[in-house]
Amino acid sequence: MFSEILALLLVVTGATQAEASLIQNQVDVLPRMDAPAPFNPSLFKDLTVSRGLEYHYYAAPADTASGKPTLLFLHGFPSTFYDWRHQVSFFQEKGYGLIVPDMLGYGGTARPLDPQSYASSLISKDIVDILDAEKIDQAIVVGHDWGSKIAARLANYFPERFHAFGFLDVGYVAPIIFAAPFNDSMAASKAFLGYENYGFFDYLARNGTDQDIVDHTDSFWDIWFINDTVKTITEFSPFGALEAFLKNNTRVATGDFITPEDRAFQIEFFNQNGWAAPVNWYKVIVGDVEREDNKGIPEENALLQKPVFYGSASRDYFALAAISFEFTIASMGSNGTLTTREYNTGHWVQLQAKDEVNRDLLQWIEGL
Ligand SMILES: *[C@@H]1O[C@H](CO)[C@@H](O)[C@H](O)[C@H]1NC(C)=O
Ligand SMILES: *[C@@H]1O[C@H](CO)[C@@H](O)[C@H](O)[C@H]1NC(C)=O
Ligand SMILES: *[C@@H]1O[C@H](CO)[C@@H](O)[C@H](O)[C@H]1NC(C)=O
Ligand SMILES: *[C@@H]1O[C@H](CO)[C@@H](O)[C@H](O)[C@H]1NC(C)=O
Ligand SMILES: *[C@@H]1O[C@H](CO)[C@@H](O)[C@H](O)[C@H]1NC(C)=O
Repeated sequence: MFSEILALLLVVTGATQAEASLIQNQVDVLPRMDAPAPFNPSLFKDLTVSRGLEYHYYAAPADTASGKPTLLFLHGFPSTFYDWRHQVSFFQEKGYGLIVPDMLGYGGTARPLDPQSYASSLISKDIVDILDAEKIDQAIVVGHDWGSKIAARLANYFPERFHAFGFLDVGYVAPIIFAAPFNDSMAASKAFLGYENYGFFDYLARNGTDQDIVDHTDSFWDIWFINDTVKTITEFSPFGALEAFLKNNTRVATGDFITPEDRAFQIEFFNQNGWAAPVNWYKVIVGDVEREDNKGIPEENALLQKPVFYGSASRDYFALAAISFEFTIASMGSNGTLTTREYNTGHWVQLQAKDEVNRDLLQWIEGL
């Protein structure tokens, strides 16, 4: 069934470098909150990257005596560095170097409002600027959700800067996934799955949705952290479902992987910063920014030639593991090696299966 979707999504792309605008109509950065343990407040840094945007990130140096590598953790939507608390706790005490940024649009990092600023090639360069500033020649990157998209683009644009690539929940985001117009992909999804798995992108990308999220914030966080993920098939994914869910102020039970304190901490970042910037991660997909930008990916880097880890979530019904598997396997080059693990969780594998994820990542990293 998925091969039909792949066939529909397969579009041969051209090879012109997308133009990238540097519009910086960003809001002022507000005072930051101190992160609780395991984060050491003195290890947060700020860097103005080469295109003039400020990045806020956690940087724990590697224990030089042990020669441990540096791990770069990239979060998705709707998140901050704080998504990685369990991994930071685990790897920090083992002497691994850690770089954990707030991605563009989130937390203490710049929050430009123009979708062009969120082109994957530009964000990838920002991340490499951070590695340069930290004097890290090669890191091991691990992404989750849209962080997996940037991990994928780092493999496409800067493969030499990484030992290995890890993907959680969302696998390798092959450029062809978003090569077709968004609604064509959703028509394919509806035909083969029975629902538009990414239909909510359309709503998140619409002007005005940022205010809806503020107005219905409890419903919004409930659905992201829902316990019974089967409900997302009807209440979240399809076109129109998320909007109806919010506007009815619907409440659902959330999973115990997010404590009330963690939820409050996460919400506070967004209460301070709003949603107009983060939703650009969807505008680039529903519009043509990602599609055009990906035309600049060097053809010789289209395949993964390094060790890859993919930890899938078997109960995520919008970012479907089966599709991620197909694309990740199809993108492995002859020099690449793929390690896969499957977790019986919804979207938030690194929170919900934290101990297994930490153990499996450690085993993979030690074996590199
Ligand atoms: C895509 O489909 C959605 C849902 O039907 C609709 O709201 C939107 O306007 C469509 N977008 C385009 C570009 O046709
Ligand atoms: C959304 O807002 C932006 C910025 O104000 C504007 O450029 C764009 O045309 C709007 N999009 C739609 C579909 O109205
Ligand atoms: C979450 O779902 C599990 C399994 O479906 C169930 O055992 C548990 O009671 C649920 N928790 C909440 C808070 O609803
Ligand atoms: C509330 O939910 C119902 C059923 O899903 C839907 O038809 C209706 O449009 C929703 N209300 C709003 C204001 O979106
Ligand atoms: C695969 O590895 C070999 C030996 O290290 C190298 O010469 C070759 O360029 C690599 N191929 C690709 C496609 O990276």
